[in-house]
Amino acid sequence: MTLAIALPVSAAKREFDFAPADHQKIARIVYDTLGILLPEGKSQLVYGRVAPRVRACGLTSVSAYLAVIEQDEDERNRMLDALTTNHTSFFREAHHFEDFVERMWPTLSQRLASGGRVRLWSAACSSGEEPYTWLMAALGHDRSAAQRLLKGDLRMLATDVSPSVLETARAGRYSADTLRTVPAKLRATWVSDRLVVDQALREAISFRPLNLLGPWPMKGRFDAICCRNVMIYFDEPTKAKLQARLADHLETGGMLYIGHSERLSPEVAARFDCVGRTAYLKVRA
Ligand SMILES: C[S@@+](CC[C@H](N)C(=O)[O-])C[C@H]1O[C@@H](n2cnc3c(N)ncnc32)[C@H](O)[C@@H]1O
Repeated sequence: MTLAIALPVSAAKREFDFAPADHQKIARIVYDTLGILLPEGKSQLVYGRVAPRVRACGLTSVSAYLAVIEQDEDERNRMLDALTTNHTSFFREAHHFEDFVERMWPTLSQRLASGGRVRLWSAACSSGEEPYTWLMAALGHDRSAAQRLLKGDLRMLATDVSPSVLETARAGRYSADTLRTVPAKLRATWVSDRLVVDQALREAISFRPLNLLGPWPMKGRFDAICCRNVMIYFDEPTKAKLQARLADHLETGGMLYIGHSERLSPEVAARFDCVGRTAYLKVRA
């Protein structure tokens, strides 16, 4: 057996030196800043995401890159952006939107029609598929009825820590493949022939950068929050703290939707009734 065969294939093929200590340093920065856990087993993923940045900076090792990001905050942010996982899709876990439309939308749309305000938050929205899905599902395919509601005091906040995905979200332009999970009638109503989401939807959503671990500038409470498939990257104390903050930012009677593999911590769960698959109605302040 040759030495090359004995080495793990991934390590043998690496363009840049990448020591376990480099992985640990990167994992520490990512955990401290974003709360995302990157255990040793993720070292190939970390290398794969960081190597293009090392190359773009004209460096020859990950340790040299780490020295650069100590001084260069913009590059540090580019690395953090590269290390977020942004997988999402239109109508992902569609049961949440069905629940919202049945449980919440009759009251909320009535409230809008009579001049009241409705506030929704897609927290960790990635490239926008989640908030656009949510609005399309709520507004349906009666365009003129939808336009009347959109003229009311309806705002959807959609936040993510990654600036690159927010750029895609704001542009609202997707590939035909990405749009294939949008039901045909909704697609005909809300997506142009050039595969751009309708301006009325884009304008109803405020896409903003926000680190869920940092300060939140929002003052008022939300009628419903989607915070899906981001807590899976966090440890238990981070999840529990985030969930308590989400609960504080939700109206009593409001809904919190979380990802299919996520659970509420026991203290936070006591403030909610579980009313569907990972669908929680806030019943206690
Ligand atoms: C897997 S995507 C989930 C997108 C969408 N919610 C869904 O379920 O399809 C996770 C998103 O969380 C974002 N994220 C990771 N850590 C974050 C943090 N600390 N604050 C805000 N967003 C974060 C990532 O940038 C990424 O876009």
